[in-house]
Amino acid sequence: MSNHIYFFDTTLRDGEQSPGVNLNMQEKLEIARQLERLGVDVIEAGFPVASQGDFEGVRAIANTIKEPVVTALARAVMADIDRAWEAIQGAQRPRIHTFIATSPIHMEYKLKMKPEEVLDQAISMVKYARNLCPDVEFSAEDATRTDREFLYRVIEDVIEAGATVVNIPDTVGYCIPEEFGSLIADIRENVPNIDKATISVHCHNDLGLAVANSLAAIESGATQVECTINGIGERAGNAALEEIVMAIKTRRDYLSYTTNINTEAIYRTSMLVSNLTAMYLQPNKAIVGSNAFAHESGIHQHGVLSHRETYEIMTPESIGLKQSHMVLGKHSGRHAFEERLRELGYTSLEQKEIGEAFKKFKDLADKKKHVLDKDIEALINQRAIQIPETYELLYFHISSGNTLLSTSTVKLRSGEGEVEEAACGSGPIDATFKAISRAADLEVELEDYSLRAITSGADALGESTVRVRKNGNTFTGRGISTDVIEASAKAYVNAINKMLYEINS
Ligand code: KIV
Ligand code: ZN
Repeated sequence: MSNHIYFFDTTLRDGEQSPGVNLNMQEKLEIARQLERLGVDVIEAGFPVASQGDFEGVRAIANTIKEPVVTALARAVMADIDRAWEAIQGAQRPRIHTFIATSPIHMEYKLKMKPEEVLDQAISMVKYARNLCPDVEFSAEDATRTDREFLYRVIEDVIEAGATVVNIPDTVGYCIPEEFGSLIADIRENVPNIDKATISVHCHNDLGLAVANSLAAIESGATQVECTINGIGERAGNAALEEIVMAIKTRRDYLSYTTNINTEAIYRTSMLVSNLTAMYLQPNKAIVGSNAFAHESGIHQHGVLSHRETYEIMTPESIGLKQSHMVLGKHSGRHAFEERLRELGYTSLEQKEIGEAFKKFKDLADKKKHVLDKDIEALINQRAIQIPETYELLYFHISSGNTLLSTSTVKLRSGEGEVEEAACGSGPIDATFKAISRAADLEVELEDYSLRAITSGADALGESTVRVRKNGNTFTGRGISTDVIEASAKAYVNAINKMLYEINS
């Protein structure tokens, strides 16, 4: 039995199916490049038949990524498989991932097909996909609620038809670890040709057991795990990649497996995904939450200071979280700034990008005495995705108070022209958003708005996230500033720019 575990990352497919997440092509590419740096073995780049945007995102990733396998999802129907293949055929290592549900409840109510029809469809579509691509993964959706004998038969027949990987999804996050481990062991025992394919697992987190189930499956012989960064995904999400990897690394005495993951890239990958998806982490999130390495109680602090391992089973450095004793401020030069970027793991930035980030850093240092690592990360993440700025916020002016109607005046630049508008609202932010919509002559529905402090203190950087909806599509914008109204206004303008960019491209 192999002791090497392959990581199949589905942040850009199952993760992107999280409610409210909508990544544009550049954002997807940025995440895919970071996943490659992280060392994942497979990137599931999307579901090409779902939309033109998905198709183009997958194709761009397939044409860019060098090392990992790039796969795309397809239902077990020809049109989906053709579209998936069209999107990934330029990849160095393409894989078609096709699926059909095998549980009685899905077959009867969703597919309205008899088990024999599902089996035939699975076999014929795996054969079809294999004629296009040498690497084909088959998933038996809702495998954990599938009749055992039927599941064994489906797996055996799709392997016979050419599947190179068979995936056993716990689609609804229903299994208990011991039970899931036994299922994998039973599949190995009862499917005669199982050694001709890789066994993969794909666990959802509805009962909070996705990581435990994935580890149980590994111990029973699964050698590929499907997961997402920060555990994002449908409903309660998928198994979190960083948790599985760090469990294997930290408990190698018990789990003696190897992986290709460069754990020092975990923190940066997690921050990038959290920022671009606007799915922020709970502070106590394992491995990457802001409290994951914080020690509050006196007893714990004393213990850690005396001997780190009293309360720390892994180091922050092992996930790429470097604690700096160097505080940057307005006297810091470009050299110190670049050095800090390097320490924070931003090693692949171009000089032009560093120059732009340095300028923003200097502007911030004028307003904020100490520029902390979190501030620098926010500046860099802000730059991560450059989209054409149809509108640029030139200034805003508000008048607000608890006894008067809030009003806001904004001036936007658009191309060569400038436009100024004013509006009233139920508060300064509402008034500012209305004034911006008026200046841009656009009506959008504000779906979500949030504001958070990136660091602590009165001069902390605030980050605002705004989600707007237009014609059924959502667009998420972000803005940062030490002034919360400015951060919000920038986020709103950013969301509008993203919307216009997608509509016009
Ligand atoms: O959860 C699931 O079953 C899936 C499959 C398509 C692999 O996402
Ligand atoms: Zn899934």
